[in-house]
Amino acid sequence: MSTSLPALPAFRSRVVPVVVLQDAAHAVPLAQALLAGGIDVIEITLRTPCALEAIAAVAREVPDMQVGAGTLLGADDVRRAQDAGARFGLSPGHSPALLRAVAEAGLPFVPGVMTPGEVMAAREAGYRLMKLFPATVAGGLDMLKALASPFGDVRFCPTGGVSLDNLGGFLKQPNVALVGGSWLAPAAALQAGDWAQITTLARQAMALSAG
Ligand code: 3PG
Repeated sequence: MSTSLPALPAFRSRVVPVVVLQDAAHAVPLAQALLAGGIDVIEITLRTPCALEAIAAVAREVPDMQVGAGTLLGADDVRRAQDAGARFGLSPGHSPALLRAVAEAGLPFVPGVMTPGEVMAAREAGYRLMKLFPATVAGGLDMLKALASPFGDVRFCPTGGVSLDNLGGFLKQPNVALVGGSWLAPAAALQAGDWAQITTLARQAMALSAG
């Protein structure tokens, strides 16, 4: 299979907020609040009915935010995410059908892995950036260190169990390119429209990822 897969869009942040939205109207103020705190990438998960509308709103109205679609589980998800305007996709795992669909769509993609065999399958398909999910259950930093030796050309985005407390350690690990996590967009803050809190959380994460 080809190793020249489309590259992810460029973004500065090494922290990727993983977002579950209950209301598409939250998407634009959320994206603006994250940007105000220095985070220019977002993963909107396809876990709620409004997710595609939310992706479309961010793609249309917040062009400086690189919007990705998360929880891509099958070929239909890939098509719908791309049609909505997602600039890239992510998945908690990968399957031959999913990898075929993203390749056919030409959508930049971050496949999920949790085992060496899954890393090998994604690597064979040309991927060099993978989401380690669920990261802390998979062994966290110890797992990343163990994977570094046989897979020296693979970088990871640990997601699942990442927080302000362990973010710095993950980002210092040489084979970690990015981290993902849901703590940056708490459901209560979204519900209350507390965008200032989200900007504060984003600033905290950016300060830790710089240090
Ligand atoms: C997810 O897909 O829900 C992410 O892994 C988020 O995990 P977290 O809630 O532990 O950050």
